Amino acid sequence: MIKDKIICGDAIEEMKKLPDDCVDLIFADPPYWMRVEGVLNRVEGTPYDGCDDPWDNQFETINDYNNFTRDWLSECKRILKPDGSIWVIGGMQCIYTIGAIMQELGFWFINDVIWYKRNPTPNFKGTRLNNSHETLIWATKSEKARYTFNYKTAKELNTDTVEEEKFKKGVRKQLGSVWRIRVCKGSERIKKDDGQKLHTAQKPEELLYRIIAISSNIGDLVFDPFGGTMTTAAVAKRMGRHYLSIEKESEYCKYGERRLNGVTPIIGNIEKAVFDKKPLRASMKEMIAAGYFIVGETFYLKNFTEGGKLLSDGKLLYDGKIVDIHRCAALAKGSKASRLNGFNTWYVLRDSRLVSINDIREKYRKFKLNNG
Ligand SMILES: C[S@@+](CC[C@H](N)C(=O)[O-])C[C@H]1O[C@@H](n2cnc3c(N)ncnc32)[C@H](O)[C@@H]1O
Repeated sequence: MIKDKIICGDAIEEMKKLPDDCVDLIFADPPYWMRVEGVLNRVEGTPYDGCDDPWDNQFETINDYNNFTRDWLSECKRILKPDGSIWVIGGMQCIYTIGAIMQELGFWFINDVIWYKRNPTPNFKGTRLNNSHETLIWATKSEKARYTFNYKTAKELNTDTVEEEKFKKGVRKQLGSVWRIRVCKGSERIKKDDGQKLHTAQKPEELLYRIIAISSNIGDLVFDPFGGTMTTAAVAKRMGRHYLSIEKESEYCKYGERRLNGVTPIIGNIEKAVFDKKPLRASMKEMIAAGYFIVGETFYLKNFTEGGKLLSDGKLLYDGKIVDIHRCAALAKGSKASRLNGFNTWYVLRDSRLVSINDIREKYRKFKLNNG
């Protein structure tokens, strides 16, 4: 299977050469068919180069656009792995057509996401609302797909609904379906050798970063049928994923190659989705064997009240009964519940200070991780 490549050619024709079920994640930013006519001027009179490129105006009728959409989406469905997922982005001109065809083809919708542009292009004529969002559809091939969703990683990226100060203090909330991300501007914009911007529709890296972080894993193959400036491929490469992108304009492919050559992977906790990894198993018994707890030592509540005494099987002797640390926590706190989380309840003495057994467990997990 080819990977880590830009294919310069027609998306539908090139996808036909790929095997079934071969990509983990698809991001598609197809021609919008904006149907732009005439010259649009900014308020101060200079012309605005919106999206009236030949690649966007390649359709004569709605039927042409529908057939094109059906063809590329059918190929995407064929090459997407059964447990993979697809994101398609579009504005009001095309997203309803695309969504209807996706449903007709049997895609299963997970979410639609509003990309709210923090710095949108103004409506120069003042004739309608300022168009300040695009819509993304996130879908799978079938309802049964067990797609990747790095739920906790998504929380780590949610600066949309958590204030900056609170976020810094560790407050996290579920990521919602309205994303506040700036449009691509300034140094992020790919320029041609003559200094002109290369592409009218370059997407911001932050958008792709979110998508790739929450719906793929290190080593996955991320595919983009309409590569443009190769934003998807560049972000995928930086995040330690494989990439494959198709683009029919050779100029975009040339600058895209250059962009990708300048990318080196930077792999941190978000890229690895460490927040979503199941913590290593660490039983009381094995922590005793490893010397992290001592048989016979006393377990205390936070206020220094004595709880049980630790037995060699990891249970506690409390009030004449042998119970596990969770049952013991409920008994010691006089809770109505039969069990409370013992790791959040109990402390032991280390150097004359109370230390949470949860902290000791974390130390042991780190040791276990580093020592196989
Ligand atoms: C909306 S732009 C994608 C921009 C891209 N996401 C980025 O961040 O730069 C759509 C791209 O699809 C390309 N395109 C249009 N029709 C195509 C086709 N049939 N096959 C391959 N590429 C095509 C256009 O040349 C254009 O670069």
